[in-house]
Amino acid sequence: MSNFKKGKFITFEGIDGCGKSTQVKMLVKKLEQLNIDVITIREPGGTRISESIREILLYRDIHELGERTEALLMTASRAQLTKEVIIPALNKGTLVIADRYADSTIAYQGGGRKIKIDRLDELNQFATYGTVPDLTFFIDVLPDEGARRQNTKDRIEQAGIDFQRRARDSYLELAKKYSNRIVVIDGKTDIDTIHKNIWKEFKQRILEK
Ligand code: ADP
Ligand code: TYD
Repeated sequence: MSNFKKGKFITFEGIDGCGKSTQVKMLVKKLEQLNIDVITIREPGGTRISESIREILLYRDIHELGERTEALLMTASRAQLTKEVIIPALNKGTLVIADRYADSTIAYQGGGRKIKIDRLDELNQFATYGTVPDLTFFIDVLPDEGARRQNTKDRIEQAGIDFQRRARDSYLELAKKYSNRIVVIDGKTDIDTIHKNIWKEFKQRILEK
């Protein structure tokens, strides 16, 4: 059953190991218990083509990938996912929950790889067909905490603590710039407390609106 006239789009953001995937699963479980139709996606990936792009992006042995190629592949993956999955789902009134979206490109390729934000904004605008999340949860942890929580590291996660620090700083700037859309969630506390905080915001901003 579709619960919204026009679907809602919720994204989760944060540095590696902040706990996004854990929180996405908990929110989805809660929504399913309430019989709310929901689809979840993760980036980069989520379609046949985007998953192939993901392999190039995250495979550990590809050391020669340039920063512009990385930005273009991230946004290429996003364009396919947006056209094939997100827009059709939103048009049907479905709730879409994404583990990362356009803000990740600003944080990682902008903050992390130091590509100009204006250029990335333009790439994102093109790739998303202008789709903007209704609500974004930025789960904030310090880079050393994120690193501690991870067992294995893909190519980008291997980029080091300074890289993660710059990505986090970019997220904090984004949260200031788009304070109506982005909610900062303290990721240091325990999993259940974080879930409760996310649920409270979700209820107020999406369900009760
Ligand atoms: P992300 O998707 O942001 O990379 P995950 O949700 O996969 O992060 O979490 C990374 C690891 O940290 C997992 O082992 C998870 O169980 C653990 N974790 C998640 N949230 C917390 C938390 N609030 N406190 C401690 N450990 C956590
Ligand atoms: P993933 O295994 O999904 O990590 P996580 O569980 O931490 O989200 O890997 C995604 C990696 O790709 C992660 O290091 C962030 C990076 N990334 C970018 O650099 N730019 C982007 O636009 C996106 C979507 C992800």
